[in-house]
Amino acid sequence: MSAKFAVLGHGVVGSGVVELFYKNKKSIEKRAGTEMDIKYILDLRDFPDSPYADKFTKDFNVILNDDEVTSVAECMGGVEPAFTFVKACLEKGKSVSTSNKELVAEKGDILLAAAKEHGCNFFFEASVGGAIPIIRPLHRCLAANDISRVAGILNGTTNFILTKMYNDHMSFADALKLAQELGYAEKDPTADVEGHDACRKICIISSLVFGKHVYPKSVYTKGISQIDLVDVADADILGNAIKLVASVTRLENGKILPAVMPMLVPYENIMSGVNDVFNAVLVYGDGIDQTMFYGRGAGKLPTASAVLGDVIEAVKHNVTVLSQSWESSEDDSFIAPVTEFCARWYFRVPEDKCNCEGAYSDDNGAAFITEEKLTWAEAEAKAKEMNAFAFMPVFQSAS
Ligand code: HSE
Repeated sequence: MSAKFAVLGHGVVGSGVVELFYKNKKSIEKRAGTEMDIKYILDLRDFPDSPYADKFTKDFNVILNDDEVTSVAECMGGVEPAFTFVKACLEKGKSVSTSNKELVAEKGDILLAAAKEHGCNFFFEASVGGAIPIIRPLHRCLAANDISRVAGILNGTTNFILTKMYNDHMSFADALKLAQELGYAEKDPTADVEGHDACRKICIISSLVFGKHVYPKSVYTKGISQIDLVDVADADILGNAIKLVASVTRLENGKILPAVMPMLVPYENIMSGVNDVFNAVLVYGDGIDQTMFYGRGAGKLPTASAVLGDVIEAVKHNVTVLSQSWESSEDDSFIAPVTEFCARWYFRVPEDKCNCEGAYSDDNGAAFITEEKLTWAEAEAKAKEMNAFAFMPVFQSAS
């Protein structure tokens, strides 16, 4: 018997799923233990020249009502209509594998519950870190650990832009254009550059690790659009790379603090060397100490690889292997406010305001890193007092 699946959306990721599936069909079938085929591709556009033109449909109900389709790859992006389609598939007992981080970050609890109730799978390995296996390792391979912190570079577009600014002194706008051409950026790249995409991904990780749904609205998020080339150069002179870091830490009071913000990552930390479209995720646990996951965080085939991995998993198992992941939580009092964030800080201030040792000075002011840790409020007060041109926290290796 052949396992039939459908692909919802034929954009960058959806077309990658079709391409990679037919390229590696034989080995995929061997690993799945059964013959497989794509029965439908859903898209509102026409693709008359596609070798798979006969598989296209514009009508979701054709897929929903075809009992031969047991699995669906959702690659449309956005909450609607993806949520309606995915929920309907799960309620019909069709497993869904998605690359849609917005969907998982906003509705993951509901969809996991629907999958559990209807005896099928809701998988989302591709929603975080592109090609990197991180969801299943966190849920299964590291399940014996008490995980206290996860931190990473979770957006390929911003990491690509920061790398171009650092290596080639390329302007922010030119680097963003290139990232869009390479298929890394979201449809609206504001989601990348303002940190919303990384925020959705740290929400998914936080929910998975700490067991309660963390919504994007509860997470402090700052992107990279305000980063100046001067600070990229000064951070380098002080021994750091600027990275957009998404992290979640369990505090001593038991609350968790998820946040997304540009940070200086010291060169001795392995994350400072993660460049271009690559992502990295550092997991801190009592058994593992720290483990890093690294790979391509965006792009057609890297993301398709993760989606198809899930489709194969869904075809192999008809039990719900992620269903115990996390529960709904309207009350977000388990999340600490960003004011509880504490770190060493980088400042760039007018030269006459600075009499600190180790500062680097030039025409753009004096740049230095505090010896002591400051809370968020203390850092803001210091920046105001010194008329700072820029200030950013420094990433700390261990919590
Ligand atoms: N726009 C996203 C990124 C795509 O740049 O990381 C992968 O989620």
